[in-house]
Amino acid sequence: MNNNLTSVPHALSASDRNAHYGHSGAVLWFTGLSASGKSSLSMALELALTKLGYSCYVLDGDNLRKGLNANLGFSAEHRSENIRRVGEVASLFANAGLICITALISPYYKDRERAREAVGPMFHEIHIAADLATCEARDPKGLYQKAHAGKLLEFTGVSAPYEAPKHPELVIDTGKISVEESLKILLDYVVRHIPLSQNQ
Ligand code: ADX
Repeated sequence: MNNNLTSVPHALSASDRNAHYGHSGAVLWFTGLSASGKSSLSMALELALTKLGYSCYVLDGDNLRKGLNANLGFSAEHRSENIRRVGEVASLFANAGLICITALISPYYKDRERAREAVGPMFHEIHIAADLATCEARDPKGLYQKAHAGKLLEFTGVSAPYEAPKHPELVIDTGKISVEESLKILLDYVVRHIPLSQNQ
């Protein structure tokens, strides 16, 4: 890192921002296989939380790869850089006072741990834990089929690893429970851990 940098303090404190939004900032880091339900659940959660009065925004892996991360592929090194960038951006969102929901496969343990370190105590790791057979059966984008046919390389779960979280704050097994039940568990979790202030 460049030595000639000086941190510039903000005029607003974290508690000023909490008072402004009616809740503290947070990162809800969703991790799981392709087709596990990360994107659908994160978007449904964003909508439901907004209706309750929370301020939130989803950072979705597919969407980010069209802009911020357009220069990255799917090697371990590129995925690592992908997660590093999103960890830093999510940290900024949380510092800004928002609830940032990230929906990326984020298959490597060490990359998620680095994101946790970048964010600090506002980080909540949520494993969207549908098993591989369930995700392969869903295959909404036909990517598992392509991967098995050798037309898509380094595909997570088929030809690239997925390292499940060891101690996630929450596990949602979307292979066993419905979208509605999953959303309810997520909402309960947020309301309990990131409560809205009374005057909201
Ligand atoms: S991550 O592994 O670096 O966290 P990310 O969540 O950003 O992945 O992107 C995953 C999305 O990219 C998937 O939803 C899928 O649509 C697409 N994709 C394209 N190629 C691959 C691949 N080889 N492995 C996994 N996902 C892929």
